[in-house]
Amino acid sequence: MNKEEAKREIEQLTALIAYHNKLYFQEAQPEISDYEYDQLVERLARLEQQFPDLKLAHSPTQRVGEAPSKNFATVYHQYPMLSLSNTYSEEEISQFIRRIQKQLPGAPIAFFCELKFDGVAISLLYKQGKLEKVVTRGDGMKGDDITENAKQIPTIPQVIKGENIPPAFEVRGEAVMPLANFDKLNQERLAQALEPLANPRNATAGTLKTLKNTTGLKRSLDCYIYGLLSEDMDLPTHEAGIQYLEQWGFRVSPTYKKCLTLEEVMDYINYWETAKKELPVAIDGVVIKINDISQQNKLGLTAKSPRWAIAYKYQPENIATILEYVDYQVGRTGVITPVAHLKPILLAGTTVKRATLHNASEIQRLDLHIGDTVFVEKGGEIIPKITGVDVTKRKPDSQPVTFIITCPACGTALVKRYEKGLYYCPNTKSCPYQLQGLLKHFVQRKAMDIRSVGKQTIEMLVQKGLIHTPADLYFLQYQDIRSLEGFKDLATRNVLDGIAHSKQRPFERVLFALGIRHVGEVIADKITQHYLNIDLLAKATVEELMAISFIGPEIAHSIVNYFENPENLQLIASLKKAGIQLSKPDTATTATGQSLPLLGKNFLISGTFQNFEREALKELIKKKGGNLLTGVSRKLDYLIIGNNPGPSKITEAQALGIPMIDETKILEMLQV
Ligand code: IVH
Repeated sequence: MNKEEAKREIEQLTALIAYHNKLYFQEAQPEISDYEYDQLVERLARLEQQFPDLKLAHSPTQRVGEAPSKNFATVYHQYPMLSLSNTYSEEEISQFIRRIQKQLPGAPIAFFCELKFDGVAISLLYKQGKLEKVVTRGDGMKGDDITENAKQIPTIPQVIKGENIPPAFEVRGEAVMPLANFDKLNQERLAQALEPLANPRNATAGTLKTLKNTTGLKRSLDCYIYGLLSEDMDLPTHEAGIQYLEQWGFRVSPTYKKCLTLEEVMDYINYWETAKKELPVAIDGVVIKINDISQQNKLGLTAKSPRWAIAYKYQPENIATILEYVDYQVGRTGVITPVAHLKPILLAGTTVKRATLHNASEIQRLDLHIGDTVFVEKGGEIIPKITGVDVTKRKPDSQPVTFIITCPACGTALVKRYEKGLYYCPNTKSCPYQLQGLLKHFVQRKAMDIRSVGKQTIEMLVQKGLIHTPADLYFLQYQDIRSLEGFKDLATRNVLDGIAHSKQRPFERVLFALGIRHVGEVIADKITQHYLNIDLLAKATVEELMAISFIGPEIAHSIVNYFENPENLQLIASLKKAGIQLSKPDTATTATGQSLPLLGKNFLISGTFQNFEREALKELIKKKGGNLLTGVSRKLDYLIIGNNPGPSKITEAQALGIPMIDETKILEMLQV
């Protein structure tokens, strides 16, 4: 590629990624998957590496892939981060306004009303127009330095442009996870047999504090800014501060309103109580601030909160209905989830018929009886939950809900695992629900993408005993499918075509499709960048896997356990036989047809080796398509460690999360 072509592509990619950022964050309507997005960013990063002088000033690549801080340092706030006094009643808002009027006699008072975003409060420090630090509220006086993580939030500007920018200033805002992203995250968690997160606030807090380089997740956050503080500015009103923030490119929600009377304030509160359902993020109330800064100063602060502001909080929507019965779902990993079936009611804009009960302890905690009048809540939470029981309405002869002791699908006695009160069906071999769950996961779009095989087809195939593992799909005959209810010639061919077509799905999708616990779409993708085929991965140890920056002990153990199970090895052997892609494509060959298994990978050698002189090893790596670097940098893919390696190289590689491999491993990779 020449420079002219590179320039054009860099410009196109930068604009394209900005476009997708907008769709994802502002409109919550992404057109492409996370995976496709990450591919665009990766392609751009590669070009920028090749042509560093062509990199555009605000390239989106500067937001991704930064090494997260090992620990969170404590930072003292220059201005304490206070909380707000809050109320749920109109009467108290009226009292607040009367008190202010009494303390500021005769003066006209303007109220600045804003939404109260339900996320995590953060403070952002800018110096000379550049983002210096991002700190959590912590205990109000000091918080955690989460700069590296917060920098990955696309709507946080890292460089400020505009007029009247003071040399130093601080902004306050709320990091939030938009509802659509929260929903997606929970669906992904459910697909991985993980418990869904309770609400977007928890999801935001967890995401901001993860040490792992889960860029995709942090990219799913947003941040609304609602305050400007600076020694170098003399702002007359809060409104003036908001206007500067808007001009400088901060994300300020346009929902604020200046009000002059109690009626106007109440109209604002009432309006958003209904309209909040249309917002892309969760709010839990509104904040009413005195607009004039000199008036704010006169009113002053208490130890905990300013006297010039108050939060009006909305009651979470809560409604009573009848619990009709409880049934139990069996996930693909065998986890049993109780589900409450309710008399349908309209709640927060949607009809609710079911609510999750999470696990056995939840049923106990609520002391649920069939026919109970229960309270169902859908606050910030997406999945409705039962918050309580109206025991006064309980009929004397009602039966308590007792958790099942055998699997509803196969009758196997359930086992209790982990401390969370979770019950499992241990029959991984032949429980039809587990198999159906696994197959539904296997055929989904992000996995093998076999759209012609739907839920009902899977159920019929399993019930008829035509398939016992996902690999059996590939050995189905025309007659097998034609014999199913409702399948004529065309539909049968369609299914067979879809299955055959999926043999072209790349290795990373296949790995995701296997349904290994904790191995979601993104993790599967990263793993296949390090392990080029399934046999290498099957031999990986926990330590080797953990050397990859985004893999922690839970994921590593889950992978190792998976490959220790002979049934899984059998499944992989059958998939291999069926012609499924279980390695990265070996397109790389030399003119003489020799394979180049290390093509494009960067290596660094440290120490001495048993089977090789250092130089011979280097030659071999180059012959197989690899490059050799002279020091540890982000570009490095593997550090090869022999005897007496350089300790500083190891520390540096660890800090950057670069995998370290030994002689045996490189021998395997060289395929010699
Ligand atoms: S002003 C000194 N404005 O609510 C008062 N806070 O308890 C500073 N919050 O965690 C806060 N939206 O992060 C303010 N528009 C808004 C807000 C807001 C959400 C959060 C804030 C803090 C809590 C106050």
